[in-house]
Formats: sequence, structure tokens, C-alpha cells
Amino acid sequence: METRASTCMCVVVCVAALLSIAAAAGWDYLDGAKGPSTWATNYETCGGMKQSPIDIVTSKVVDEDLGDFTFVGFGEDDEPVDAEMTLENNGHSIVVGVTGDYQVSGAGLGTTAYKVVQFHFHWGSVNSQGSEHTIDGKAYPGELHVVCFNTKYADFVTALNEPDGLTVLGFFLDVQAADNSVLAPLFDLLSMIRFEHEEEDLSTPVVFKNFFPADLSSYYRYSGSLTTPPCYEIVTWNVFTEPIMVSEAQLMLFRRQFANEQDAPANISLVDTFRPVEPVNDRTIYMNSGTAALVASYSLIAMVLVKVLASVLED
Ligand SMILES: *[C@@H]1O[C@H](CO)[C@@H](O)[C@H](O)[C@H]1NC(C)=O
Repeated sequence: METRASTCMCVVVCVAALLSIAAAAGWDYLDGAKGPSTWATNYETCGGMKQSPIDIVTSKVVDEDLGDFTFVGFGEDDEPVDAEMTLENNGHSIVVGVTGDYQVSGAGLGTTAYKVVQFHFHWGSVNSQGSEHTIDGKAYPGELHVVCFNTKYADFVTALNEPDGLTVLGFFLDVQAADNSVLAPLFDLLSMIRFEHEEEDLSTPVVFKNFFPADLSSYYRYSGSLTTPPCYEIVTWNVFTEPIMVSEAQLMLFRRQFANEQDAPANISLVDTFRPVEPVNDRTIYMNSGTAALVASYSLIAMVLVKVLASVLED
């Protein structure tokens, strides 16, 4: 009898302990008990030495010719036949799940291609904040991350345990007067998924190259982590210098999202969904000095030549 009672007691204590772990786990972007400053307590890797995002100090960046990206499936003419995109409010972000063989390679990423699994957004409550990465201390109103896993691993989940498991294409979002028309179908669905766990399919997948900025050769490269728990240090980061432009009205649609389910006792606005920058520590931040830099130096040479020619002709 006594054994039985103590077994019972143990079960009660164990369940209570498990419940308290479950309650303690979880994370958010608020200032409280689950905010970014507490992540390392529940998710050890969040306290690591190679964390993301970071502030990119342009005077310390090392120029490196990494080469251009090769994109397969990203254009209007080579879209995967089975392409599908589903938008979800997951309580932390708006995530677009991607089906179809979209692949990224080249650009010093090694010999295997990386396959897109999802893209998602980070945004602020006001235009002076929202991006995760900052450039010389300057934040943009938002940031878009295209998450890709290394196809040398079987799938995304397997890749999460490998140091070269993921690469992320990061684009800043900046504000212009006009709506971004390519992303308009995506923004149009946001009012239907304002609450956590709500999702909607895009009737036609958006074409990456149609909303990517024109210059994809100017980017920063460094080794970092997932910017949300569990913060695994497995990400080869690409932060492009040219932003994607959206309107204030489109940013407002992000700011009208909620971090809670529809029937929650209170609504929590889903805004300022960015992790503060982490220490760079001993990492080097590279910048691809590909075509953009070459074009700049060629045009400088051309200008000098024209001047020389003009002065020769004048004589
Ligand atoms: C949450 O927001 C929705 C939409 O604006 C509203 O209908 C609902 O009443 C709000 N819930 C609470 C608890 O305020």
C-alpha cells in the first residue's frame, strides 16, 4: 500500500514538474518572462557565441569575391510545377510554407544546393524598427527571410542538427509610397489570418525573382544562427544590401496581426517581432564584391578615360 501511495505521489510530483517546464518554456518578443533576454535560460544555444542577428559595421566588413547565386525555380519561366505556398500566422510571425523544388546554390555556398522550405517576415510597430539585422546601427522597418536547407541532408529536420544545415536569404523591407504589387496577393490574405494558427493558401504562388531586388550580387555573408529559439548555430547568412520596397499600408497589415488565438481572453498585437542584435564576437563579416563593385570600378575608369580623351582632343 505504502509503495502504491508513494508511486502515486511521485506521478503527481512528476506531472507537476513537467507542467511547470511546459509553462516555463515558450518564448516571445515581449519584455517579460519569455522575452529575448530570457531565451538562453530555456534554450541554451541562444546564449552561444555565433548568434544572429548582428549589427553589420560596414567599416569592418571584409571584401570577398564569393560569386553570384544560382537560383532554380525562382523565375516566372522556371517555377516548379508543383509549387504551392501557404500563409500561416504562427503566433510569432507570418510564415509562408513552400512546396516545390526551389533551389539556391553558388555564391560560395559549397558544392550542394539548398532547398527553400519557407519564408517569413519580421516587422516593427513603427518604421524606425523591425528588421533583425542592422547596418551601422540603422534598422529597417522589416526583414524577410527565405529559409533553405542543405540538400546533402535528407530533409529540413535532419539539417537542423548540422553546422552547414541552413542558408537564409535575408532582405530588408523599406517603405515607398506605392504598394508592392508582386506581394499584394500575400498582403491581401493577412486580414484572414490575424490570429495564431490561422492559415490560407495563396491561389497562385508568388514568383521570387519578381519581388527580389534587382541587385542580388551585393550581399553580406557570415556564420550565425536561427534568430528564434532554439537558436541553433547552423545558418550561413546572406544579408542583401538592396531592400524590398513595400507601402506603409502593407506594413500596417502586419501590425494588425495578433500573437494569440481568436478566442483568447485578451488580444496581443504581433509587432516588433525582431530579436535585438547579438555580439559579433570573433566572426568575420564578408561582403561579396562581385559585379556591383566591378561595375563601379569600370565606370570610374570609363569616366577617367573620357576626361583624358576630352583634354587630348581640346589640345
Ligand atoms: C480581439 O480582436 C478582435 C478583432 O478586432 C475582436 O473581435 C475581439 O473582440 C478582440 N478580443 C478581445 C478579448 O478583446
